[in-house]
Amino acid sequence: MRLLPESLRLLFFFLFVMGVAPAPALTAGCPYRCVCDEQLVVQCAGQDLTRFPNDLPLATRQLIISNNLIGDLPALQLNYLSDLVYLDCSNNSLTEISESTFGNLRKLAYLDLSFNTLLQIEDRTFGPLASLVMLRLTDNPSLGEIHPDAFSENLALQVLDVSRNNLTSLNISSLIALPALRSLGLSGNPWRCDCDTEDLCLWVQIEGYKFQASVNEEDAASQDFSPPPELAYLQSPESEELVASSNNGSDSAVSATVKA
Ligand SMILES: *[C@@H]1O[C@H](CO)[C@@H](O)[C@H](O)[C@H]1NC(C)=O
Ligand SMILES: *[C@@H]1O[C@H](CO)[C@@H](O)[C@H](O)[C@H]1NC(C)=O
Ligand SMILES: *[C@@H]1O[C@H](CO)[C@@H](O)[C@H](O)[C@H]1NC(C)=O
Ligand SMILES: *[C@@H]1O[C@H](CO)[C@@H](O)[C@H](O)[C@H]1NC(C)=O
Repeated sequence: MRLLPESLRLLFFFLFVMGVAPAPALTAGCPYRCVCDEQLVVQCAGQDLTRFPNDLPLATRQLIISNNLIGDLPALQLNYLSDLVYLDCSNNSLTEISESTFGNLRKLAYLDLSFNTLLQIEDRTFGPLASLVMLRLTDNPSLGEIHPDAFSENLALQVLDVSRNNLTSLNISSLIALPALRSLGLSGNPWRCDCDTEDLCLWVQIEGYKFQASVNEEDAASQDFSPPPELAYLQSPESEELVASSNNGSDSAVSATVKA
């Protein structure tokens, strides 16, 4: 049977409306091995997943894919989730993230990339994340480089933890200019301090012995995070973490205090 162009258009329209078309925008199920609830939380932790889950509900607000073997965060699939507030990717096999990875996640407030195998963080990787409040980037044993401007656009960032990586230096000139930053976790990195002019080294020299303190995992894990409007409950970081106070972003006048 030969369809007229009008009928074809109608057919496509119905396919589209009925959700029969395989467009990701219309999938409404729950991914294989994941549990989805009415609060738009998708829980896929510890399922031996080797790939980012398919067919995520578009309205997902919290996505937990921790404790899997996922090696890649596909930008296209991830960025359909424009309402995502909370993303836990900890304890996977991620080796690479870039500016396009999080390109459309403007509501994301919490991001956990700890316990992965990231090698470096490039410029603007977190640039699109205008609402990011807490970023956990710990325990990536080969992470040796973070671009000076990697976080410079994250004006909402309050807590950044880069503990237990392989960092020898960190240019903090853009970090100390972040208006909301109140905690920076630095412990357990092989800091190289032959650089009197760098702010970070100033901190290390002032508070050097405290940098080697290992953060209590239990306490770190129990730092619950609630998405907005519960952001106010964001718990204080551990005592080993440095709190930076800057003299209006001036490089020369950095002071460091350690929370009691
Ligand atoms: C990572 O996930 C694996 C598999 O679920 C688990 O056995 C292991 O304890 C987890 N490691 C951490 C540090 O959470
Ligand atoms: C950490 O970095 C050093 C070079 O600074 C390198 O030799 C070493 O292999 C790195 N460690 C890991 C686990 O990648
Ligand atoms: C730190 O980064 C800023 C901005 O990219 C740059 O202007 C400055 O020279 C860097 N400082 C050092 C010590 O590398
Ligand atoms: C930063 O600059 C503003 C305006 O120039 C000033 O009101 C404020 O006191 C300064 N803050 C510090 C910590 O110096």
